[in-house]
Amino acid sequence: MPLNLIIGAQWGDEGKGRVTDLLAEDADVVARFSGGDNAGHSVTVGDQLFKLHLIPSGIIQSGTICCMGSGMVINPKKLIEEMDRLEELGIDVSPARVHISGAAHVITPAHILLDGAKELQRGEEQIGTTKRGIGPAYTDKTARSGIRFEAMLDPEKIAQKMSAHLTQASLLLENVYAYETPAIEESVQTYLRYAERLRPYITEVGSFVAEALSNGQNVLAEGAQGTLLDLDHGTYPFVTSSHPTTAGALLGLGVGPAHLGRIIGVTKAFQTRVGEGPFPTELSGKLADQLRGSGENPWDEFGTTTGRPRRVGWLDGVLLRYAQRVNGFTELAITKLDILSGFNAIRFCKAYSAESKTFETLPAGPADLAPYEPVFETLDGWDENITSARKWSDLPAQAQAYIEHLEAFTGLPVSIISVGPERDQVIRRA
Ligand code: GDP
Ligand code: IMO
Ligand code: MG
Repeated sequence: MPLNLIIGAQWGDEGKGRVTDLLAEDADVVARFSGGDNAGHSVTVGDQLFKLHLIPSGIIQSGTICCMGSGMVINPKKLIEEMDRLEELGIDVSPARVHISGAAHVITPAHILLDGAKELQRGEEQIGTTKRGIGPAYTDKTARSGIRFEAMLDPEKIAQKMSAHLTQASLLLENVYAYETPAIEESVQTYLRYAERLRPYITEVGSFVAEALSNGQNVLAEGAQGTLLDLDHGTYPFVTSSHPTTAGALLGLGVGPAHLGRIIGVTKAFQTRVGEGPFPTELSGKLADQLRGSGENPWDEFGTTTGRPRRVGWLDGVLLRYAQRVNGFTELAITKLDILSGFNAIRFCKAYSAESKTFETLPAGPADLAPYEPVFETLDGWDENITSARKWSDLPAQAQAYIEHLEAFTGLPVSIISVGPERDQVIRRA
């Protein structure tokens, strides 16, 4: 059985959690491979809304084993809180069901302080991070001074590593950033308690996933963030510090590509972004308010992790094609099509223009999008509420035409059309 991937095709929050929950029904193993609790994945089942930050969204479907791979940076405090919340809701999060890679990196209180200090120092040029310590934890990883989860297997080792790291980081926080410093001894003791609790969960996720695949099991990799936030391939420097792309999935799990099956690019029917950085199709005013929603529905465009209002705009086909190139999607899942109900006309960015030239694909990477103006085409909108649509023929002709237009533009089949946040509010075409 294959390794199927769910990858964000935009700037995150595409509905990856919702799509993962859907496909997890047929999965034996569901694994996160990048990022940390900067992710916020929502899954709605009946009247229950689950918000997951670290544990794969596949945990909601009983019968899955959920892994957190080596590509992740994990705040143990947040992980334990998330486990406790899930347990209260009757979800099994025992070590038999949840595995943490020993090679995943530990986020510490110093990383969180450093994230805040660095953003403050950037001033007007701030990235708008989630302030979860993500960047500083990956910085330590790359500098080969990070703390891996395997250190938690030995109390002496984790205490020694935490103490050295906090001492070093305090020097930086105090002398370079003139910022708050962590309470060293208290943090060491706290992390010793976290280690005690999490020890039974720490395993070799790479070999576990590889064995599952060889045994014919179905493994689903749940992306966090999105392609345009990729450290190498996103809108640098307004990116995250990991690789939320297809290549990152293999790296962050520790398996090769032999078993790759479906590579599902998840995109909203429009575009959103939270944080700073370029956004060529961004809207303001009434149209933006209509796309964003007022905040009264849980699916309105306000961040799951930080509550910040998301920036919104029309779907950017140039960036979608770019995401397709980077990831090698085999298909697309389109979410929030229901939100386009009530628009007279829907605009779609089919190209960029700069200095009277037209570009159908990005001439350079997406880091500098400032020179480009979007070239829009206009498609007919529809009035009908489509949240009850369950098959293709339930969709109004204009909604079908929009989907078919995306298929023709990208050359990819749209296999999943989501028309609401609930598990069953979907049209499956594969
Ligand atoms: P993720 O980070 O990619 O998992 O996405 P988030 O969960 O952060 O944001 C997606 C939001 O849209 C969540 O509130 C979902 O419940 C909601 N959602 C997902 N699919 C649909 C859909 O088709 N229609 C509507 N109205 N909401 C959706
Ligand atoms: P999910 O998995 C949307 C954005 C932040 C910021 C930039 C860097 O829910 O789609 P970081 O804290 O990672 O250093 O912030 O990346 N960002 C996300 N935006 N969804 C996410 O995750 C995000 N994770 C990070 O807003 O612009
Ligand atoms: Mg999210």
